[in-house]
Amino acid sequence: MSQDGGCYTWIWTCFFEYSTPKILLIRSRKVGAINRFIQAVIIGYVIGYVCVLKKGYQETDTVLSSVTTKVKGIALTNTTAMGLRVWDVADYVIPPQEESSFFVMTNMIITPGQNQSHCPEIPSATANCSSDGDCMAGFSDTRGNGVQTGRCVNYSASAKTCEVLAWCPLEEDVDPPEPPILAAAENFTVLIKNHIRYPKFNFSRRNILPHINSTYLTNCVFSRTTDPDCPIFRLRDIVSEAQEDFQDMAVNGGVMGIQIRWDCDLDMPESWCVPKYTFRRLDNKDPENTVAPGYSFRFAKYYSDGEVETRTLIKAFGIRFDVMVFGKAGKFNIVPMLLNVGAGLALMGLVTVVCDWIVLTFMKKKNIYKEQKYSYVDDFELLSEEIP
Ligand SMILES: *[C@@H]1O[C@H](CO)[C@@H](O)[C@H](O)[C@H]1NC(C)=O
Repeated sequence: MSQDGGCYTWIWTCFFEYSTPKILLIRSRKVGAINRFIQAVIIGYVIGYVCVLKKGYQETDTVLSSVTTKVKGIALTNTTAMGLRVWDVADYVIPPQEESSFFVMTNMIITPGQNQSHCPEIPSATANCSSDGDCMAGFSDTRGNGVQTGRCVNYSASAKTCEVLAWCPLEEDVDPPEPPILAAAENFTVLIKNHIRYPKFNFSRRNILPHINSTYLTNCVFSRTTDPDCPIFRLRDIVSEAQEDFQDMAVNGGVMGIQIRWDCDLDMPESWCVPKYTFRRLDNKDPENTVAPGYSFRFAKYYSDGEVETRTLIKAFGIRFDVMVFGKAGKFNIVPMLLNVGAGLALMGLVTVVCDWIVLTFMKKKNIYKEQKYSYVDDFELLSEEIP
């Protein structure tokens, strides 16, 4: 029967085979120590990392939040263009309200008294001319300021440019003033009101904490060391906490991030759930790449001067502050706890695998261990022993 073929015999033996684990007790200090060490590592991981550090026994939820802001401060400027002038919130916060964000104008280029008329275009490759023949009536350059009339006129004593139909006089192509016009903006303050909610736990809280009364709120300014709970921030402090200089940033403008982190352990007292504020600059401030720096935009204020519609054009430079709210809350729940403890216990199965591998591969006496670990019992042998 065994001569019928190898395959037949092989399947035959394979199929009619039963393997059962046998307990092999290795009395060796080295092997014992390795075993205990691996067990300790796994228990340490389950208790230390999964339970204590990652709070694996908790169910978690992410934050929902709403943010409102209110800027305060007055600036006084004295420039040749505008004379003595006071600036309040309605002048420098543009637009008056935004979602989770506010813009404070710190610098500007003002072109007053513009109306619809003719004037020479700002000199450039397409606008320079020597005679009317160089200008084309009706042509408008996307980067220019108006529609050409077809005439070549004096821009200055030495330069001639094409005349355009535009809001005249045109805005001068200059760099923003330095120091910035509203340098005083560094002392402006902003009250940030943030209300958060963890819907899964029906838990809500706001950053004006219960112990803050209205007297404190009218006088405090956030400081990491003395007033870490005060929700009123001085703009200079926000910028300097991000390792930037306010006056530098105010010239060309930029974008700042105000991050509010609410990490709450709801198994602990509610008063431990407090916001943490951090600040960072969000726009690119790469010293190697200084082309088109900062943040600016134009807007105009229109008025009618008798019959002529006139406007004041303002190119505004400033800092936009974006408020970002993050957070995660955790609370004890039996389901995630069982899942995590179960996964940890399953890891204990690894101990035997790793120990076997070390013992059978690296030990000096590995051959002795191998002989002891696997033993074969053949039916024929048993039969012959049973039959006297
Ligand atoms: C901001 O306030 C400080 C002290 O309150 C003052 O020394 C400083 O000159 C102010 N900054 C500006 C630009 O006015």
